Amino acid sequence: MSEPDANQSQQTERAPAGIDVNVPSVARIYDFLIGGKDNYAADREVARKLVEVVPGLETDSAAHRAILHRGVRFLVEQGVRQFVDLGSGLPTAQNTHQVAQGIAPETNVVYVDNDPIVLAHGRALLAENNRTTVITADLREPKSVLEHPDLLRLIDFDEPIGLMLLGVIHHINDDEDPAGLLRTYLDALPSGSWLFLTHFLHSGPESEKLERVMQGSHSSGRFRERDEIAAYFEGLETVDPGLVHIAMWRPEEPVDEASLTVEQRLVVGAIARKP
Ligand SMILES: C[S@@+](CC[C@H](N)C(=O)[O-])C[C@H]1O[C@@H](n2cnc3c(N)ncnc32)[C@H](O)[C@@H]1O
Repeated sequence: MSEPDANQSQQTERAPAGIDVNVPSVARIYDFLIGGKDNYAADREVARKLVEVVPGLETDSAAHRAILHRGVRFLVEQGVRQFVDLGSGLPTAQNTHQVAQGIAPETNVVYVDNDPIVLAHGRALLAENNRTTVITADLREPKSVLEHPDLLRLIDFDEPIGLMLLGVIHHINDDEDPAGLLRTYLDALPSGSWLFLTHFLHSGPESEKLERVMQGSHSSGRFRERDEIAAYFEGLETVDPGLVHIAMWRPEEPVDEASLTVEQRLVVGAIARKP
């Protein structure tokens, strides 16, 4: 985690237009946890409450970025040359397009996030990359994503697509029908496409406490049961090792499941192919 800027008012002045820095945002809380600088006092306050519940939570956030890198590399190796990254978050080191285009420069990437700060920072990063774009849309309104002209410019629905939902479906509450939303996106993908999804796991009292803090601060953040998460992959072919704690998904060095810490047990993920 980075320490807050000593001069808070200066930081407020630097906030992009239209961003309310007084309301905590998932994108900026996460940015703080992974050591970014695009966060404000209200975000850091929530992040600190979360770290109070589970010291070491920022290590788990870093693990989230690590599985993103391993998963994107895997998908590019399977021949995927176009990605839709839903709930992409603020740009940080080694984003999806940098990992994918580092292996296959012809890869197109569309980032989608409903927080306008992601677009504000993403624009500058992507100004010179015509195979990558950032759109501001809410994944709870699939039409606004799937029919967005900037997405349609880069994504060919006749070719396999890598659909990424990392750390975002758990921000869709039960009454917002996460499974139904996911089904709508999967139905839109051609055969041979891929789902890459990670999700908070109900894993004991700490996960319940974290859920209470998150729901209290920004009204989202569900730690679901493994069966509920596995159901998101129904009808797809999940590749080895299946739905596992993210540290266990094709790690670069062997990982002993018994040695996983509380924070390493909070998130599971998998990659699956649409037949
Ligand atoms: C925890 S961050 C994950 C960032 C990135 N996917 C990763 O794994 O490093 C979750 C992101 O999802 C975004 N998000 C939450 N609800 C969303 C929604 N309904 N539509 C689009 N994006 C959403 C948040 O703004 C945030 O940037």
